[in-house]
Amino acid sequence: MNQSILPKLGVGTFRLEDEVAYQSVMMALEEGYRHIDTAQIYGNEEAVGRAIRDSDIAREELFVTTKVWNDKLNKEGFIDSVKESLRKLQLDSVDLLLIHWPSPESGEPMDEYLGELHRAKELGLTKYIGVSNFTIAQLQQALKILPEGSLTNNQIEVHPYLTNEKVREFCVQQGITVTGYMPFAVGKVLKDETILAIAKKHNVSAAEVVVAWELAHGLVTIPSSTKRANLATNLKALELTLSAEDIARIDALDCNDRQADPDFSPKWDI
Ligand SMILES: NC(=O)c1ccc[n+]([C@@H]2O[C@H](COP(=O)([O-])OP(=O)(O)OC[C@H]3O[C@@H](n4cnc5c(N)ncnc54)[C@H](OP(=O)(O)O)[C@@H]3O)[C@@H](O)[C@H]2O)c1
Repeated sequence: MNQSILPKLGVGTFRLEDEVAYQSVMMALEEGYRHIDTAQIYGNEEAVGRAIRDSDIAREELFVTTKVWNDKLNKEGFIDSVKESLRKLQLDSVDLLLIHWPSPESGEPMDEYLGELHRAKELGLTKYIGVSNFTIAQLQQALKILPEGSLTNNQIEVHPYLTNEKVREFCVQQGITVTGYMPFAVGKVLKDETILAIAKKHNVSAAEVVVAWELAHGLVTIPSSTKRANLATNLKALELTLSAEDIARIDALDCNDRQADPDFSPKWDI
């Protein structure tokens, strides 16, 4: 699977509500982002949709991802929930539809909800399908259920304090693209001394170094920001090339410091 299916840098929207979400997405689009990541559980699909509409950017230029929440991972609710997401987003289809967590609320089996995910694609509600927070064992199971080549993406937490190499390597072997979420560990890694030293050497910000590190590993990444200046800075990372030594020094910061670990998390690959 070609990693270039997804624009390599997108903008995240977790925690952003109503007007804040609207402004963040609007500023991101004005600054040049064309890839937006939302989810049913973020409660901001309506605000994201308004920003997309008001931006007047042609639909085909945009790459929009949303994710189906745990309570809809069943035959009864799945497709209707996707149609509701599309109504809020004011779109006929999304580019990528993900299973947000491998954690159906009522314990439905994977073949049931992945069957619905595939059906969403067949109905034209999404161009590509994927998963999020899936472990290697769960990906192996998913690959057996879904038609060959249809599992396009696994969105997982990746930042310098959680490099998640095992899952990433498995995805590469299987041709599944990887999106690294929470690239800044919600700001934590931006204070790291090693990252600050590398930033100083290149005369750039810590945020640029971290985004460039994700991209250097062939990951797609989706940092979020409520500030225009930070959105612009993160985009500038596309121009930064890190040395092999810089990359190795950042890789060595891995300390399995996971930020997103709710009680319904799977048994993570360490
Ligand atoms: N699939 C999943 O389960 C899952 C889970 C979590 C997240 N995600 C996705 O991943 C996206 C990113 O994760 P996240 O938003 O949680 O965390 P993040 O992107 O790691 O960090 C966001 C934080 O970094 C700050 N920031 C952004 N750019 C900055 C810059 N240039 N300089 C200094 N600070 C900067 C932001 O503050 P300001 O607003 O002040 O700039 C915000 O507090 C989410 O929005 C969501 O779309 C997916």
